[in-house]
Amino acid sequence: MSERTQVGIVGAGPAGLVLGHLLHLRGIDSVILEDRDRDYVEKRVRAGVLEQGTVDLLTEMGVGGRLQREGLVHHGVELRFDRRGHRIPFDELTGGCGITIYGQQEVVKDLIAARLETGRPLLFEVDDVRPEGLDTDRPTLRFRHGGDERELRCDFIAGCDGFHGVCRDAVPDGVLTRHERAYPFGWLGILAEVAPSSEELIYCHHDRGFALHSMRSPELTRLYLQCEPDEPIESWPDERIWEELHARFESEGWALKEGPIVEKGVTPMRSFVAEPMQHGRLFLAGDAVHIVPATGAKGLNLAVADVRVLADGLSRWFSNQDDTLLRSYSEQCLGRVWHAQYFAWWMTQLLHRMPDDGDGFQTKLQRAQLSHVVSSRAAATALAENYVGLRR
Ligand code: PHB
Repeated sequence: MSERTQVGIVGAGPAGLVLGHLLHLRGIDSVILEDRDRDYVEKRVRAGVLEQGTVDLLTEMGVGGRLQREGLVHHGVELRFDRRGHRIPFDELTGGCGITIYGQQEVVKDLIAARLETGRPLLFEVDDVRPEGLDTDRPTLRFRHGGDERELRCDFIAGCDGFHGVCRDAVPDGVLTRHERAYPFGWLGILAEVAPSSEELIYCHHDRGFALHSMRSPELTRLYLQCEPDEPIESWPDERIWEELHARFESEGWALKEGPIVEKGVTPMRSFVAEPMQHGRLFLAGDAVHIVPATGAKGLNLAVADVRVLADGLSRWFSNQDDTLLRSYSEQCLGRVWHAQYFAWWMTQLLHRMPDDGDGFQTKLQRAQLSHVVSSRAAATALAENYVGLRR
């Protein structure tokens, strides 16, 4: 079966779904292909920190209703080390800015509901997606769906299919330059049915390793522990997780509340950028083309920022065949991407225990940096501006 659309979008994560909706609002059709089923995509637990720019865009797009009602607005975070907490007041340091805590899977649910409402195609459980003809003006997506072999002829293809997706690999060898760092640790993340133990996020530096206290709602706490990058989840029974969390967060007058663990998983920490973010009629966006370590909480925000630029470029092209914006897509995005890459790397090296730190040199430097950040207004402002996503 052969069909046609203006933009073929591979991947129904935040990047693909936001792009599809922005194009819809401009009267441009698209087909979104996703290899997982709807339930999986809606339940996939990811980070949950939205910059104001992301909240504003989702709201302007008309998908911010539940986000406005249920999102938790935070005006600061705590840095905890040597058993003491230090608050970084974002609002005071950035002229009133904050962040909104709202799980990525909630954003995805809202976007899927909005997509289905438009009646435009969103196909789940698609197999064997093959992007072809990227160097021609009729790129094609071949795939299988419900047992049928299908062909989708497009004007453009958007590769929003994540780090392990097929689109980046469809670019011929030698075109993309990869920049990559794998960190010698991962994060063990849990979701617990218990009220958060603090009103704000706590980034904790400890000799036993990094820990993070976050939340999803007044009844759900999200917690992370630095662990081995390939840590088998079986080696972390619930009791061991709580014991380790208590040890790392220990602080006078503060107690971590425990509750039933309803989700558990290990995430590797990596930095990755492939450049340029475009080849021929294929445009890559989000995790398909850059990964940031979760410490800076930038992944979703970067993905949304990419597709906002892409939607503007595509809409200009479809209205008068003007490709100026599309030609500068990669360049426009990469400045922000590398800035976020820098901030996420900085937060990561500041807060994690370095496994190869024989004589403790790194740890001493981390303490010095942490003391500086919490005692110098200039240093705290730098963290705050980056965290809230303020770009002057
Ligand atoms: C989360 O709530 O999942 C979260 C928060 C902050 C981060 C990473 C993850 O830096």
